[in-house]
Amino acid sequence: MQGSKIAVLALLFSSLALANINKDFAHILDGTSAVTLDDIEVMYSKFVQQYKQQMNYSPSSQFKSQTIDRKMIFAQKVQEIIKHNTAPSVSYKKGLNPFSDMTEEEFVSYYNINAQAEQNCSATKRSEIPQLMGDGIPEQWDWRDKGIVSPVKNQGHCGSCWTFSTVGCLEAHYLKRYGQFKNLSEQQLVDCASAYDNHGCNGGLPSHAFEYVKDNGGISTEASYPYQAVTNQCTVNPSSYAVGVRGGAVNISLSEEDLRQALFNNGPISIAFQVVDGFRDYSSGVYVSSTCKNGPSDVNHAVLAVGYGTENGVNYWLIKNSWGAAWGDKGFFKMQRGVNMCGVAVCNSYPQEVYDISQEFKVFLQ
Ligand SMILES: *[C@@H]1O[C@H](CO)[C@@H](O)[C@H](O)[C@H]1NC(C)=O
Ligand SMILES: *[C@@H]1O[C@H](CO)[C@@H](O)[C@H](O)[C@H]1NC(C)=O
Ligand SMILES: *[C@@H]1O[C@H](CO)[C@@H](O)[C@H](O)[C@H]1NC(C)=O
Repeated sequence: MQGSKIAVLALLFSSLALANINKDFAHILDGTSAVTLDDIEVMYSKFVQQYKQQMNYSPSSQFKSQTIDRKMIFAQKVQEIIKHNTAPSVSYKKGLNPFSDMTEEEFVSYYNINAQAEQNCSATKRSEIPQLMGDGIPEQWDWRDKGIVSPVKNQGHCGSCWTFSTVGCLEAHYLKRYGQFKNLSEQQLVDCASAYDNHGCNGGLPSHAFEYVKDNGGISTEASYPYQAVTNQCTVNPSSYAVGVRGGAVNISLSEEDLRQALFNNGPISIAFQVVDGFRDYSSGVYVSSTCKNGPSDVNHAVLAVGYGTENGVNYWLIKNSWGAAWGDKGFFKMQRGVNMCGVAVCNSYPQEVYDISQEFKVFLQ
């Protein structure tokens, strides 16, 4: 279980490293005390100190030429957060995160969020999900408690969410089967999986990526094929393949009950939904939106469902994002379950079987 210990330690470390700006200024952000200009100054300098180095973002060239008053955007963001958090009956809180001084336009461009909209989830064939445990499955589940959810990563300035969703799923299924963490390569999918209707930093689908890994013979490690956040020529060395997929992608669509069963029975599942403005400021609670759409060609962000439950009477999915551990609730969020919120029901998949390539080889030699 060495691997999962490392995973747990990495999670602990990344959350400790972020002295919590949202906790320090909770009285302001939740509206308990009125915000002053001095508060904004103090908060902004804390924000810069806490997030700026690790954020390491260079706004794309179209924004570099503009002089943007970051503190002004930040101040507006603080007002927006207070307004949201003090509104009656909100099911989730907003908070500060590394993106809090970016305009909406910059944010959308940073993660290339609109590129993903071209993906066509209705092209994904639905699979039959065996209803193994019927009503006997628990009301609440969190795969993190079992130590199989690998640390939160950050996709950076690239529309590669689909590769992080895929790799997070493979890492979790590998941990579940072998009790060991293998840090796998998103970059291989970015560079090499385009024959499966994937487009590197311009979007793709986990179901297509699982098929690629199955047909290709495996996926390499992060160390052998490190993440670059740009689309390059494929230069993967097949002798570095560490993990393979058998049986391809199992696709779940339309039924969130199927999704819940499959998640409990099989492990974390790659899912997709539509990011709309507001989501980027999520900090805790159960995310809901009245503006997102929910059809198969509306979803624009792939993530990883790792659990489910009910909070204050609202059913939710527990989901791992790929925007770093400083975003959201230590890199995770909850979203309403059971109402196809933002299309969360329409475009979901997991690998039928994940296997260790070196161990298979050893068995073959015996
Ligand atoms: C999406 O795929 C479906 C099923 O293959 C097809 O009927 C539809 O035309 C596609 N839509 C787009 C926009 O490609
Ligand atoms: C799941 O979807 C992928 C990609 O769209 C497809 O290649 C695969 O055959 C589907 N799986 C099943 C079991 O239908
Ligand atoms: C996995 O690889 C990523 C990207 O190189 C790195 O940032 C991260 O620290 C690695 N995770 C662990 C737990 O080794």
